[in-house]
Amino acid sequence: MAADAGVIRFQRTSKRYHTPARGEVWALRDMDLVCEAGGLTCVVGPSGCGKTTLLRLAAGLEPTTDGRVAIDGRTVTAPPPGIGLVSQEGSLLPWRRVIDNVALGLEIQKVGRTERRTRAREAIRRVHLPPAVERSLPHELSGGMRQRVALARALCPGPRILLMDEPFAAVDEPTRHRLQDELVRLWQADGQTILFVTHNVEEAVYLADRLIVMTFSRTVADLPVPLARPRDRLDRVFVDTLLAVRRTFAEHVNGLSCDTTS
Ligand SMILES: Nc1ncnc2c1ncn2[C@@H]1O[C@H](COP(=O)(O)OP(=O)(O)O)[C@@H](O)[C@H]1O
Ligand SMILES: [Mg+2]
Repeated sequence: MAADAGVIRFQRTSKRYHTPARGEVWALRDMDLVCEAGGLTCVVGPSGCGKTTLLRLAAGLEPTTDGRVAIDGRTVTAPPPGIGLVSQEGSLLPWRRVIDNVALGLEIQKVGRTERRTRAREAIRRVHLPPAVERSLPHELSGGMRQRVALARALCPGPRILLMDEPFAAVDEPTRHRLQDELVRLWQADGQTILFVTHNVEEAVYLADRLIVMTFSRTVADLPVPLARPRDRLDRVFVDTLLAVRRTFAEHVNGLSCDTTS
């Protein structure tokens, strides 16, 4: 359905797990969320509130228990085409060199070797990794470089939708800030629909044009973030917006133990 091209739609989406240790666990409950085409939607919520589950359902890696997820107007029942997923730890294949990690999606699509290499090199260049890194193995790189490789891998097939699961959570603050800037730059150039989940309120305010606060498997606030770009973390308007979102977060989230697994 062309009208819904690039749109991610969660409609009363629920996911329940049956676990031997904890019985029935609701990872998501009656989630309603529409991520507009070309928008950068951030979902911010504490550990255990269902962020990864949200992305795994959108990526077609798991079925919903109730409700539906639709991408491009079609109900997701398997990994949809045109989706890139970046996880917190990058999930690079440790035995593959950077270029072969980046080219993985194209290999799955049976794109020929020469074209794969050309496009993988272009993706490596776009995330500002030095060309020589293409011969490295993941363990030879810093955490920040590994996340750049993971981003390059997701971008390489030219996805229309990017699902990002706390991709910068494990890197130091200056590196995180640089990676955030680069993500915004790439998004402004390509115009993908991005659904980015994080537990970091500042990160969400910096990135989002729409910010969803989530807790206990559901959303509690849906806030536009109309700040101009490039954003300045020290600017008064940015700081005021951050404080307002922190207040909303505190109202709904702080004091509640969301992650019952730890
Ligand atoms: N495969 C699974 N089996 C059982 N419980 C799960 C599974 N995946 C997630 N959960 C539970 O669902 C809830 C939400 O998890 P998750 O989506 O990983 O949260 P977040 O990414 O926000 O930390 C947690 O209570 C978690 O323990
Ligand atoms: Mg998670």
